[in-house]
Amino acid sequence: MGTTFNLNGKSVNFDGDPETPILWVLRDHLDVMSPKFGCGAALCGACTVHLEGNAIRSCSTPVSAAAGKNVTTLEGLAPKMGKALNEAWVEFDVPQCGYCQTGQMMSAADLLTTNKHPSSGDIKNALSGNICRCGTYARIEKAVKRAAD
Ligand code: FES
Repeated sequence: MGTTFNLNGKSVNFDGDPETPILWVLRDHLDVMSPKFGCGAALCGACTVHLEGNAIRSCSTPVSAAAGKNVTTLEGLAPKMGKALNEAWVEFDVPQCGYCQTGQMMSAADLLTTNKHPSSGDIKNALSGNICRCGTYARIEKAVKRAAD
């Protein structure tokens, strides 16, 4: 029977241990590679995806929590939100190594759905759980503001 959930608008099934973290179901079983493994302990944000529209740490959330619900990755962000974020990320040349950036963008998307014109403080707060070892924070902040325009 397994665990059935909606991934980027399509119904998918995972026929393994329901305690498997969503991250590994996405990467190892469904070939969705945008969420990254960083710390595996809900500390870095590299694995951020949306569950029912809210940013979550997929490394630390069992797939059972997604049963019957909507999971969204960067690949499935609504065309408008995904396009705005992509264009802003390109405009400000945000990524350095790039590893954390999909998580940063998923947290930004969550913020922008509830706060259309976030202040610098709002952005820092909302993305404070997304660590970037290259220190691209200033460019991320500019890009989130541009995406909100
Ligand atoms: Fe999930 Fe770091 S890999 S928070």
